[in-house]
Amino acid sequence: SFKDGTGSLNVVESGEDLPFEIHRIYYIYGVEQFASRGAHAHRNLRQLIIAISGRFTVDLTDGVNSESHTLQSPDVGLLLPPGLWRDLHSFTSDGICLVLASHHFDEADYIREYPAFLNWTLTV
Ligand code: TYD
Repeated sequence: SFKDGTGSLNVVESGEDLPFEIHRIYYIYGVEQFASRGAHAHRNLRQLIIAISGRFTVDLTDGVNSESHTLQSPDVGLLLPPGLWRDLHSFTSDGICLVLASHHFDEADYIREYPAFLNWTLTV
């Protein structure tokens, strides 16, 4: 993070700041106040999530333990290993969720049903 009198600049470099190579970037924005995103887990995907603007909350569970993180600073990243169910909610109207991902899009990597996720956690 580099800040001077004119503003701030933040850098994320594969292999330096992240334990994976970045193969995909996407961003989620314009989320309605009471809407939820996510509601899935990934089998292999690793991600870094940043609130590049505004604020939103990320609820995480591995099926046993749960955490909730409110992201609201562009110089903070939430590193998600594989195997976590996530729900993103409480977006402010200016909320933008930037995601740096370790792999290209692959629907087969998703687990979109919570009971199936719980079953999967017992197999890994
Ligand atoms: P999804 O991951 O379910 O979004 P969220 O977790 O924010 O609710 O993706 C929504 C749709 O976008 C789904 O049809 C798959 C598609 N999509 C892609 O085609 N490529 C991508 O890289 C991503 C993240 C989603």
